[in-house]
Amino acid sequence: MRQGVASALLRGLQATRASSSLAESSNLVRAYSSANTPLTATLFPGDGIGPEIAEAVQTIFKAAEAPIVWDEQHIGKEVDPRTNSFITRENLDSVLKHRIGLKGPMTTPIGKGFRSLNLTLRKELQLYANVRPCVSIPGYKTRYDDVDLVTIRENTEGEYSGLEHEVVPGVVESLKIITHVASTRVAEFAFDYAQKNNRRKVTAVHKANIMKLTDGAFLRCVRAVAERYPDIKYDEMIVDNTCMQLVTRPTQFDVMVMPNLYGDICSDLCAGLIGGLGLTPSGNIGANGLALMEAVHGTAPDLVGKDAANPTALLLSGVMMLRHLRLTDVAGNIEQAVLATIAEGQYLTRDLGGKSGTKDFTKAIIGHLK
Ligand SMILES: NC(=O)c1ccc[n+]([C@@H]2O[C@H](COP(=O)([O-])OP(=O)(O)OC[C@H]3O[C@@H](n4cnc5c(N)ncnc54)[C@H](O)[C@@H]3O)[C@@H](O)[C@H]2O)c1
Repeated sequence: MRQGVASALLRGLQATRASSSLAESSNLVRAYSSANTPLTATLFPGDGIGPEIAEAVQTIFKAAEAPIVWDEQHIGKEVDPRTNSFITRENLDSVLKHRIGLKGPMTTPIGKGFRSLNLTLRKELQLYANVRPCVSIPGYKTRYDDVDLVTIRENTEGEYSGLEHEVVPGVVESLKIITHVASTRVAEFAFDYAQKNNRRKVTAVHKANIMKLTDGAFLRCVRAVAERYPDIKYDEMIVDNTCMQLVTRPTQFDVMVMPNLYGDICSDLCAGLIGGLGLTPSGNIGANGLALMEAVHGTAPDLVGKDAANPTALLLSGVMMLRHLRLTDVAGNIEQAVLATIAEGQYLTRDLGGKSGTKDFTKAIIGHLK
C-alpha cells in the first residue's frame, strides 16, 4: 500500500507539471494572491449531483485552507434574452470579473430556440482550448497502468458552431467552420503547453484525407506552429486510427491537439482509459488567462440525493484551478490527499468499486491532508 501511495505521489507530481502550464502559458492579467490573501472564484454548482460534489469540494478546500472565496452562480430558470440561454448575463459577468471559475455539471435542457449552456459559456467567454490531463490513478485498476497524456481540444468552432438548417424538407445541413485564427491559437496553446511541461511530442488528430479543406486547413496551421518548436516532436494521425491506437497502445501519446468534434470524442475515450468520467478533470482556457475548470461528467440523474456521487473529477478540476492561480502548495496537498485516499482503497465511492458515500469519501480525503 505504501508503494501505491508513493507512486500516487509521483503521478501527482507529474500531474502537477501537466497542469501548471495553464498558468504559465497564459498571460494572466490579474494579480496573484499570496497564500494568505483570498481570491474570489466563480462557482457553478450546477444541478443533478452538482451541488453534492460542489459541497464536497468546498469542504475539502476549507479544510486545506485554500485561500478561495466562492461567488456562487446559478443558471436562470428561464431563457435570458440577453444571452439567448439559461446562462444569464450575470453568470457570464461573474466569470469575466473574477477571471477564474469552477463548474459542476448542468442538465442540458431539451428544446428549441435557445443555446446550449456549455456552448454559451465557451462562446461568450471565448474559452478556446479545452485541456484534459489523463493520468493513470494508482490504486484504481484499469486495463492500463501508465497512461499519461493530455488532450487539447479546439473549443469554439468546427461542427459545434451551431449552424444547422433544413435545406428542403428531408435534407438538413450542418456547417463545419474551421478558421486560421482559431486553429493557430489552439495549436500555439498545445505547443506552448508541451514545452512548459517537459512533454516531448504533439500529435495533431484529423480527418484531412476526407475533409480536405476544413481539416486540411487545421493541419496546415498546426504544421506552421510546429516549425517554431523544433525541440518538440510533431506527428499527425487520422482520427479513426487514433481511436484504435488509443485503446491498444495509449502510452505512445503525449500531447494531442484536435478540432472540436474529434476532441469531444477522443477526450471521453481517454477518460475511459484511466477509469471513467468520475475521475477526469478539465480546464477551459480563454484569452489572458481567463479559465473555467469543470468536471467532464454529466449530472448523473441516477445518483442524485443518494450520497453516491464521486467528487474526484470536480475536486481535481479545482486543483487545476489552484495551479492556474499558482497556489501550488495547497493544490499539491489536495491532490496527494485524493490520490492517497484512492490508493488506500478503504473509502471508495461505488463507481470506484467501493461502498462509501460521497460524505465518507470526502472525510477520508480530509484525513489525508497534510
Ligand atoms: N459538462 C456538463 O455539464 C455535462 C456533461 C455531460 C452531460 N451533461 C448532462 O448531464 C445529464 C446526464 O447525462 P448522461 O447520463 O449522459 O451522463 P452522466 O455523466 O451524467 O452519467 C453517465 C454515467 O456515469 C455516472 N457518473 C457520472 N458522474 C459520476 C460521478 N461523479 N460519480 C459517480 N458516477 C458518475 C452516472 O451515474 C451514469 O451512470 C444530461 O442532461 C446531459 O446533458 C452535462
